Amino acid sequence: MASTPDTKDFPAVIHGQGDLGEFLSQQKTAVDDALLHAGTMLFRGFDVPDAGHFDAAVEGYGEDGFTYEESLSNAVRVNVTPRVFTANEAPPETEIHLHHEMAQTPIYPSKLFFYCEIAPDQGGATPVCRSDWLLERMRAEAPEVAERFAREGVRYTNVMPGADDAGSGQGRSWKSTLGAQTREDAERRLAALGYEWQWRDDGSLRATTPVLPAIRELSDGRETFFNQLIAAFRGWSDARNRADKSVTFGDGTPVTAQDMAPAIEAAEALTRDVEWQAGDVALLDNFLVMHGRRPFSGKRRVLASLVS
Ligand code: FE2
Repeated sequence: MASTPDTKDFPAVIHGQGDLGEFLSQQKTAVDDALLHAGTMLFRGFDVPDAGHFDAAVEGYGEDGFTYEESLSNAVRVNVTPRVFTANEAPPETEIHLHHEMAQTPIYPSKLFFYCEIAPDQGGATPVCRSDWLLERMRAEAPEVAERFAREGVRYTNVMPGADDAGSGQGRSWKSTLGAQTREDAERRLAALGYEWQWRDDGSLRATTPVLPAIRELSDGRETFFNQLIAAFRGWSDARNRADKSVTFGDGTPVTAQDMAPAIEAAEALTRDVEWQAGDVALLDNFLVMHGRRPFSGKRRVLASLVS
């Protein structure tokens, strides 16, 4: 590798050329070491002209994929190759706020790859935020709320439509989300996962997660604000959902704007944008870094692949 990224270099950019799959396969250990420190690495200049080459690059990295079918993600997505899918079908003007991928569910990927096939004309960056730095800042500035999140954990409530609603950032139908054909299948899956639920007259399903941790300890002892709070609180609004009703503390008390302010302010100060160029590939440690999507206009095609 050209150099070992410093934590000051966030995200770390690796300039190279040629076959990215070969590079990732040969440099896997060095890449993983660097990722542990940097949280986000951007591979630029390699030969990745299309989704097929992106799939091959992820294959070269050599870890098992985390498939959309098995996930409980709320986003509507479309598979492009076996390992690669569209990142989120939400409309361009919709901002997707910072989150750890699928941290609002008990099943989540450890790492994420993104690939820019078509760079956006206007906007469309991928904001990234170090969640360990965010938690450190919260603990310094609002220790009580940080402590409450740590102590109680959180629960998320989401109303899933009867059929996919591509107009929403979390419009995936309950059938697709839960891999269920019938209401009975859905209920079996929810019960096994420890959820509570209610059916609604319009065919939608309101589901509340069991208490999930809001903070995660990494293998090296670092702690991160590993949750979906910012995205849920700022963004889970659509025909079925109200963002400010989507999260509670573990004891059922609503999480208020005041509770969320320290995290949101810290995130704004610490977020960096990945400004995409066609052919770029980014690798994110999902336990260490939150990501989102800036609104955009014109064409943009960013694809994703998840590592289990
Ligand atoms: Fe995401």
